[in-house]
Amino acid sequence: MVENQVQDSHIIQLDKKEKKLALYTEDIHVYYGQNEAIKGVSLAFEKNKITSLIGPSGCGKSTYLRSLNRMNDEIANTKITGKIFYRDIDINAPEIDVYEMRKNIGMVFQRPNPFSKSIYENIAFPLKRHGLKDKAKLDEIVETSLKQAALWDQVKDDLHKSALALSGGQQQRLCIARAIAMEPDILLLDEPASALDPISTSKVEETLINLKEKYTIIIVTHNMQQAARISDYTAFFYMGNVIEYDQTRKIFTRPKIQQTEDYVSGHFG
Ligand SMILES: Nc1ncnc2c1ncn2[C@@H]1O[C@H](COP(=O)(O)OP(=O)(O)O)[C@@H](O)[C@H]1O
Ligand SMILES: [Mg+2]
Repeated sequence: MVENQVQDSHIIQLDKKEKKLALYTEDIHVYYGQNEAIKGVSLAFEKNKITSLIGPSGCGKSTYLRSLNRMNDEIANTKITGKIFYRDIDINAPEIDVYEMRKNIGMVFQRPNPFSKSIYENIAFPLKRHGLKDKAKLDEIVETSLKQAALWDQVKDDLHKSALALSGGQQQRLCIARAIAMEPDILLLDEPASALDPISTSKVEETLINLKEKYTIIIVTHNMQQAARISDYTAFFYMGNVIEYDQTRKIFTRPKIQQTEDYVSGHFG
């Protein structure tokens, strides 16, 4: 099992260098009914780095990403085995408060999904639900998270307009602002730029590169140029397995496994 050797060696490599890990998974299997969509994935994610998950459609990228903050719990008939360690605790353990955990491990979806509320409330509402009442503090967080998401200058005079009036790219950056307003440790993004035009895409990419100073970012992308541009590490998924995981420049210039080479050079997928 060449794949497993690569995965394991990567985890060991990270440990040996005493790099700080934000999250790691051990032998994750995810099932939809009888269909095993993830077949034993072990990966370690380094703090303050961007890791891309790439691979052909249907190979399990979204399923694996959703397992990292238990979003698969929301889908009927799913089962997961294996361990996902965040701060030395398995997030699937019974004592875990999922709501609190998701505050630390936030998610941005493929399609922008702002609430049908004002720009301001898109960010303030979840904070209020988590108990923050102080208006001045809310104003401050709205401003700083919009700045971090590179949206503030465009919306600062329209904070009370509907978020649904924004362009797709702006809505996605608002969703990123909403996620980072919670001050997560880890931000999971599932093809956040797939519905965006090239200019919005490059703004989102710039935003992510800036955000890694504060957060650990794990991003699914089918766009290999994007993975190459923004990520430090890349994992290549194929049919529910991780075939290869390494520093991004190695994956794109000298992958160790033929399937990876074929995929990154555009020969399949
Ligand atoms: N909600 C779901 N219910 C049942 N099967 C699903 C669901 N989501 C994904 N799958 C199946 O799991 C496999 C992996 O899908 P997915 O994780 O969406 O792949 P990717 O994100 O790489 O395109 C596919 O066979 C897909 O049909
Ligand atoms: Mg997907």
